[in-house]
Amino acid sequence: MAELIIKDLVAGYGNVSVLHEVSLEVADGSIVALLGTNGNGKSTLMRCVAGLIKPTAGSITFKDEGAEIDLISDSPKQIVDHGIAMVPEGRRLFPLLTVEQNLMLGAYRKAARERIDESIEFCFELFPRLAERREQKAGSMSGGEQQMLAVARAMMSVPKLLLIDEPSVGLAPILVAQMIEKIGELSESRNVTILMAEQNFNQAIKIADRGYIIVHGEIAFASKDAQDLADNDMVKSYYLGA
Ligand SMILES: Nc1ncnc2c1ncn2[C@@H]1O[C@H](COP(=O)(O)OP(=O)(O)O)[C@@H](O)[C@H]1O
Ligand SMILES: [Mg+2]
Repeated sequence: MAELIIKDLVAGYGNVSVLHEVSLEVADGSIVALLGTNGNGKSTLMRCVAGLIKPTAGSITFKDEGAEIDLISDSPKQIVDHGIAMVPEGRRLFPLLTVEQNLMLGAYRKAARERIDESIEFCFELFPRLAERREQKAGSMSGGEQQMLAVARAMMSVPKLLLIDEPSVGLAPILVAQMIEKIGELSESRNVTILMAEQNFNQAIKIADRGYIIVHGEIAFASKDAQDLADNDMVKSYYLGA
């Protein structure tokens, strides 16, 4: 049971306000897409949940097995310890470390350390390419492989809630489709709740149970379900490349 509830969130950088009373919910076991083009506040919202930015108003609540945790008062480390992992924009791997070493670093929270072998096995099964390249330095891999590693590293922490910031960025179209498919797979096999930021609307809606469209830091549309999202005019216009 892992659920994320964001209410009236206000956040920004110094005097620059970016998020304006954003409310969003991610139900247990679901995949929610946070859709928006560049600069609309997707990463800012993800960073707030991960504790990297302190919002100035609103609330972020993580419901886990009956407990209600207020994330705003927690440090990024405490947030990781609750079972929340982020795949950050730009991946943020350790380029000089190997695939395996990067994965190990993802497993530092206590609950994850006890399950390292099982997690590694899961990651290598999900992304066989990483198993082949376990000794290779992360920085020498292709963009697609690095994105696989970034997702796998986050999974090493055995998260209950996974935040994925633009998994499609910089990938060739065929790799985007594969990555999105893998995210759908891991959601099912690991029963992890997922909030995924994307500007690739038509790929994201393939796996999303619900979605939001964020425009200039405000939620412009909140869908009831997957169909409702696919039928939205803004989503449709991106489909057609408008
Ligand atoms: N570190 C930062 N310092 C100042 N402004 C920032 C910073 N990061 C993002 N912004 C600004 O916040 C707004 C939203 O950015 P961001 O959350 O990265 O959007 P998205 O992820 O949707 O592309 C943009 O106007 C961007 O310029
Ligand atoms: Mg971003």
